[in-house]
Amino acid sequence: MEKKKIHKSVLLQEVIRLLDPKPGQVYIDATVGFGGHTEAILKKIGPYGKLLGLDQDIGALNWSGANLQARYSNLTLEKANFSEVGKIAQEKGFMKANGILADIGVSSIQLDEPERGFSFKNTGPLDMRMDQSREVTAADILARYSEQQLADILSRYGEERLSKTIAAKIVQRRKKNPFKETVQLAELVRDIYHAKSIKIGKIHPATKVFQALRIEVNDELGHLEKFLPQAVDLLVTKGRLAVITFHSLEDRIVKDFFQQEAKGCICPPEFPTCKCNHKKRLKIVTRKPIVASSEEILENPRARSAKLRVVIKL
Ligand SMILES: C[S@@+](CC[C@H](N)C(=O)[O-])C[C@H]1O[C@@H](n2cnc3c(N)ncnc32)[C@H](O)[C@@H]1O
Repeated sequence: MEKKKIHKSVLLQEVIRLLDPKPGQVYIDATVGFGGHTEAILKKIGPYGKLLGLDQDIGALNWSGANLQARYSNLTLEKANFSEVGKIAQEKGFMKANGILADIGVSSIQLDEPERGFSFKNTGPLDMRMDQSREVTAADILARYSEQQLADILSRYGEERLSKTIAAKIVQRRKKNPFKETVQLAELVRDIYHAKSIKIGKIHPATKVFQALRIEVNDELGHLEKFLPQAVDLLVTKGRLAVITFHSLEDRIVKDFFQQEAKGCICPPEFPTCKCNHKKRLKIVTRKPIVASSEEILENPRARSAKLRVVIKL
């Protein structure tokens, strides 16, 4: 219990300033995690507001429930993937939200628990499921995917320049020795970098490979793409949506979606008249993403890659 308190919420002040929750308002926190942002919003909306909190990780949700529910009777928690936010909001009576937050990615706690298999820093099973009721683990992917599929995910989700070499080595190695533990994979990647005499900096060479596998195991980009339009539908006019991402693939999805929805017609320029009937639905609040201050990064290095984007529903 005690160790779970070390997750530090990123960009907390900025999120609250830009969402600007007010007494009596209705909020959805799509990624409760360890409840830091949730509680800050609950304090602002007060006892007459209400908040629906989702997380696909039952451990995180149970911890936040134990910590928050006794103090906030206006908090409803539900274990769910945010790709289902529309359905859950309807079931729970949260169809008109003043604000929605998604602080995507892994929590420090998930990263620090060796048994979850997110990190190569400790020996643990190659699991990486945020929702442990899902079937496929990272070990399953390493055992079953073809060399081409592995190279594709390493390149697309990890932007790993040695994707083909690493995929070939994984397939060769798994014949004799199936991948079960995080360190086995981390060592294989490090050995490939050494063999090619590539200088290794501060960041472990397996970082991108682990990121790619995690994205694939949890279908992170697919869920984000499903979440964004549903979140906009749930907002009232002038309602606000804030999304924090931790890598460029997610940030691009959020940025492109916000830009598209902040435009009217999206027909190709050569069309003489509009055929798409696309309506402008959003106003962008953050032209450039908000990033953490150097003080915050010093205190919480995870904040280094965080990017916050906020929009208002028209
Ligand atoms: C960075 S943490 C959130 C931390 C939280 N804002 C806080 O202040 O403690 C991200 C959380 O999002 C959850 N998560 C990631 N993707 C999700 C998804 N598609 N649906 C629901 N929860 C998700 C993870 O399980 C994790 O607990």
